[in-house]
Parts: sequence; structure tokens; C-alpha cells
Amino acid sequence: MIGLERREGAAIVTVDRPEAMNALDLEHLEALRERLAELAADAEARVVVLTGAGEKAFVAGADIKYMQGLDVLGARRWGELGHECGNLLETMPKPTIAALNGFALGGGCELALACDLRLASANARLGQPEINLGVLPGWGGSLRLARATTLGFAKELVLTGRQIGAEEALERGLVNAVHEPGELMDKTLELCRTLAAKSPLALAYAKEAVNLALQGDHRANLATEARLFAMLFATEDQTEGMAAFAEKRQPEFRGR
Ligand code: CAA
Repeated sequence: MIGLERREGAAIVTVDRPEAMNALDLEHLEALRERLAELAADAEARVVVLTGAGEKAFVAGADIKYMQGLDVLGARRWGELGHECGNLLETMPKPTIAALNGFALGGGCELALACDLRLASANARLGQPEINLGVLPGWGGSLRLARATTLGFAKELVLTGRQIGAEEALERGLVNAVHEPGELMDKTLELCRTLAAKSPLALAYAKEAVNLALQGDHRANLATEARLFAMLFATEDQTEGMAAFAEKRQPEFRGR
């Protein structure tokens, strides 16, 4: 199942399929997409966290046994469904965090890469082992891994299938922080509280602007940044944020 728990403005989405290391089959991937689409439009969910049930795995990838039965058209649809989940995580107008509590392999690593931020437990293992199955990363990993790290490192992981530990992932910029397994969720919620205290409007526009960084036309992207920046000056949150600075107090953002 795909669990949902709400805590202090954060929506925690849990892939819960421990018998398969939280690998995603069609039922679970469709349920994940529905859940993410709902949360994208849910103003109460200020931050969305994606994690896996148990202590062993975040998501050990797409379900290999399910994929054994796919033909070319089926594989195309399967890839597109994974992309829809990744695109929701990447573009929903609020921060998304992957809390990597164990194996994040193949499609699991790819969904994590689509999130805005990644926190890993010290026992997490990341990688794109699809090459060992005679395929390639099909849920965005061949592109997002290069964007998150470097082209050379992405090629190394994608072409060799090598798995890396949390510390190497941190050194490579693949994750933002590493925490002890028992502390991962507390640290994730701490980050959620930090984010939930910001203006949700500014967060949404800031995410949109940063998402443009490695794509498209640079001048056009700068023009978009200027537009998004200017639009925030029509919000109460901008007035409040700047007034709070001038008055030497903490701002109280209302999302207006
Ligand atoms: N698909 C289906 N079943 C999986 C799975 C996956 N991706 N990962 C683990 N499982 C299942 C195992 O088959 C096993 O089931 P049974 O008990 O029925 O045999 C169960 O989960 C437990 O796994 P292991 O016994 O293998 O546990 P382990 O601790 O020895 O190893 C592991 C853990 C290293 C994660 C190992 O299971 C593994 O290598 N899994 C596959 C990882 C992988 O290749 N992921 C990429 C998938 S392809 C993909 O994601 C394509 C894409 O880009 C969209």
C-alpha cells in the first residue's frame, strides 16, 4: 500500500511493500501517482515527504518480476507512469523531500532524484543497477542523476550499475545530508518545519525558478525569474517578510 500520514503541515507518503523491498509494481505505482496528484493540489500539505516502510529499503526499484511480462508498448506505458510520478515530485508547487531509509535503487533512486531534497540514513544504498538487467534507467535517472551530480559520475553509475553508500552520495551531491537511521525521520520533520514556516507562495515560485536552472534558454529563464520575483511583490507574505526584518521579529507568513 501507499501510506499517508500528516504531521505538522507535512504529508508523509510511505511506499509500504516490505515483502518486495518496497519495489513498485503497477498497483503501487498507480496508487503513488494518485497520492502525489492529490497532494500537489492540497494546500494543507505544505511539504511532501516520500519514504519507504521498514528499515531496509526506501524503494528497491521498479518491480522486476512485473517488468518480466512487459512488451514494448507496455514498457513504454510503464516508463511514462514512472515519469508522471517523478514529474509530480519535481514540479508540484511545494517542497518534496525523499527520506532514504535504505535501498534506493533503480526506480527508487530515480524518484528520489525527482524530489527537491534528499536526506539519507547512514545505511542507505543508492544506484542505478538497470544495466545489470539489460535495460537503462527508465524513470528519469539517466537525466536527473547527471543534473544532480556530474555527467561523468552519472555515466559511471548508469553504465556500471555500481551501488554507493550514503557518505559517497553526500560527497557527490546526490543527497543533502546523512543521518543515523534512528534519527532520519526526526531530522526530516525538522526540515519540514523549517520549510513550513516559509511563505508557501515564495517556496512555490522559488522552486519553479530553480527548476529552470539546467534546462532551456538561459535568457528566457532569467526573464521568468524576474517575472516570478515581481509577482511575489503582490503578496501579503512579501510585505510581512520585509516588515518583520525591519522590525527585528520573526515573520508570520499566511500564504497570501
Ligand atoms: N523487484 C521485484 N522484487 C524485488 C525487487 C525489485 N526491484 N527488489 C527486491 N525484491 C524482492 C526480492 O525478489 C525478494 O523477494 P523473494 O523473497 O520473493 O525472493 C525480496 O524482495 C527481498 O529481496 P532480497 O532477498 O534480494 O534481499 P537482499 O537483502 O538480499 O537484497 C537488494 C536487497 C540488494 C535490494 C536486492 O533485492 C536487489 O538487488 N533488488 C533489485 C534492485 C534493482 O535491480 N532495482 C532496479 C530495478 S529496475 C528499475 O527500477 C527500472 C527503472 O528504471 C524503472
